[in-house]
Amino acid sequence: MRILRPRDIPSSEITDESLYWNRREFIGAAAAVAAGLIPASPLSRRERGTGGEDTSERGTVGQADKLTPFEDITTYNNYYEFGTDKADPSRYAHALKTRPWTVAVEGEVAKPKVFDVDEIIRRYPAEERVYRLRCVEAWSMVIPWLGFPLSKLLGDVQPTSHAKYVAFTTVHRPEEMRGQRGNVLPWPYVEGLRLDEAMHPLTILATGLYGKPLLNQNGAPLRLVVPWKYGFKSIKSIVRIRLVREQPPTTWSMATPGEYGFYSNVNPNVDHPRWSQKRERRIGELRRRPTLMFNGYADQVASLYSGMDLARYY
Ligand code: MTE
Repeated sequence: MRILRPRDIPSSEITDESLYWNRREFIGAAAAVAAGLIPASPLSRRERGTGGEDTSERGTVGQADKLTPFEDITTYNNYYEFGTDKADPSRYAHALKTRPWTVAVEGEVAKPKVFDVDEIIRRYPAEERVYRLRCVEAWSMVIPWLGFPLSKLLGDVQPTSHAKYVAFTTVHRPEEMRGQRGNVLPWPYVEGLRLDEAMHPLTILATGLYGKPLLNQNGAPLRLVVPWKYGFKSIKSIVRIRLVREQPPTTWSMATPGEYGFYSNVNPNVDHPRWSQKRERRIGELRRRPTLMFNGYADQVASLYSGMDLARYY
């Protein structure tokens, strides 16, 4: 992945997030805090929505989590199927046809099923989840996703006792995805989680953001969001979810095995071979803030990795 350069910094002039918070303040913030999805902080909803006193230098979780403007979330993207420039997905992703769309859920399950994506959307009502997304390139965003726990879908297909991992696959359509006509990455894009990570209540399949259906550049019609891992684990435009016995291959660990491992938990203590992971720049801000262990979700997820050497299993 490319290193961020100053000219990549997007404009943050369209700040519709405060309007959004006024409209959604109860449903969004209160429900998310109640569910433990954003850590309760001393800041009020209004302060979080408009950028309160920023005490994140103290490294505390959940401080000054101002929502990233819709404009930035939808024009500053990584989606190599449409090119490597941050603006390429918003320029070219309209070419992907997201209907009709099926998602096969298969492998080590008692009830494999090919879902129509609209059936998924009807069957698993979306809730709002405000999560930080921390990219391995050392920038981050705060995104109000709409989605539902992956555990609900997996529970319905009944994993067998042999299911240990979950393998995800992005659609492969070079005729609609111009980046897939080249070989910047092996296609299709694939990702994986351990079953307990996949079943964790923070892990969601997202179908929208800011109260609207996902735009193509953000992974429509269905993408994964795993908030304590680097953004690249959050695979877009999923067509297959396969429960498997062995740890599945992942795109970035195949492309550059010396740089990207399977777990990819946000860990400021493990440098990327070419740059530090200690700090990050929130999109829309100039200064850099400390990166938090597990992207600030350590209270909820650290126990998944107890006993593991997180420098080795990076
Ligand atoms: N999924 C696919 N299929 N292709 C990609 O190139 N990029 C990943 C991830 N999911 C990627 C992908 C990376 S590197 C990041 S940081 C996030 O998507 C970015 O998500 P966003 O563009 O919605 O912010």
